[in-house]
Amino acid sequence: MTNDWDICYFSDGGHSLTVLDQTLLPTEERYVELRSAAEVADAIARLVVRGAPLIGIAAAMGLCVAVANGEDFEEARRTIGAARPTAVNLSWALERMARANSEFRNLNFELRVEQLREEALKIKDEDAETCHKIGQFGRGLINDGMGVLTHCNAGHLATGHYGTALAPIYAAAEEGKQFRVYADETRPLLQGARLTAYELVKNGIDTTLICDNMAASLMAAGKIDIVFVGCDRVAANGDTANKIGTLGVAVLAKHFGVPFYVCGPQSTFDSRCATGADIVIEQRRSEEITTMHYAKPMAPTGVNTYNPSFDVTPHELITGYITENGIDTTK
Ligand code: MRU
Repeated sequence: MTNDWDICYFSDGGHSLTVLDQTLLPTEERYVELRSAAEVADAIARLVVRGAPLIGIAAAMGLCVAVANGEDFEEARRTIGAARPTAVNLSWALERMARANSEFRNLNFELRVEQLREEALKIKDEDAETCHKIGQFGRGLINDGMGVLTHCNAGHLATGHYGTALAPIYAAAEEGKQFRVYADETRPLLQGARLTAYELVKNGIDTTLICDNMAASLMAAGKIDIVFVGCDRVAANGDTANKIGTLGVAVLAKHFGVPFYVCGPQSTFDSRCATGADIVIEQRRSEEITTMHYAKPMAPTGVNTYNPSFDVTPHELITGYITENGIDTTK
């Protein structure tokens, strides 16, 4: 795969975080520089940087930049931590940075910032390794001639490298397997069309884009053999929050007898949430669904809207969880 472009890195001697602005894809690959906790939080909230693992990575690296530029650690942590509520990777990464900060509290400022940068880069490197392991564990589930469905974007653009739900796909393609990927467009913000289709096509994967309401007819026609999705938070009982629409795909998969796998790092598993009912679901603004990709109105002014960014798939609908530790089918 050619997904070796770095979409989140330190610049200006560690005083800035450069990220690919994902709101502009697929038409423009533009990088933006973030220099404060407020800018990092805003980039996460606006989905300039998105996808659970990448949110955690950007948060940790952004916190380093904020501290390097003179901001108070705890205040910067609070600002970044409030950016989005659902992906647990955000608080997970910030808690890990807080532990590092307290471990190195006796060092002088320069050395402490250096240690914080190292910790943040470790989070990124570990995530890249995790993605590869998910790919290695998951690739055996894909055989020649299969149709694979995915929802939202859980690929390179959402992680430290390679992706989670897309990792088995990239790994199977690297083995030379021939199969077709169907990407749900993923309304309202089109992560499937703008991001998943973009990176899969860039990597030479046979990709077919569908509207979200087409998955049922494809399954009815026997064209989908397996589903891989990512996750933003997995509760202790296995209930899984992921992009809105995931639940619908899981219900369909159950009905049509298609295996449905959730792929993600252990850092997305939150033992503090007993069930999916404990997961906070982000509600986003109306314009995301009343306006065609933020530009042209496509609904009347004043209409009520319901715009949850995620839904929760109950564990009964999930065939297995693919993590860096293997495939778990016991939940
Ligand atoms: O709102 P987004 O684009 O951040 O939502 C992303 C998803 O729901 C992904 O499937 C999830 O974060 C897993 S990314 C490996």
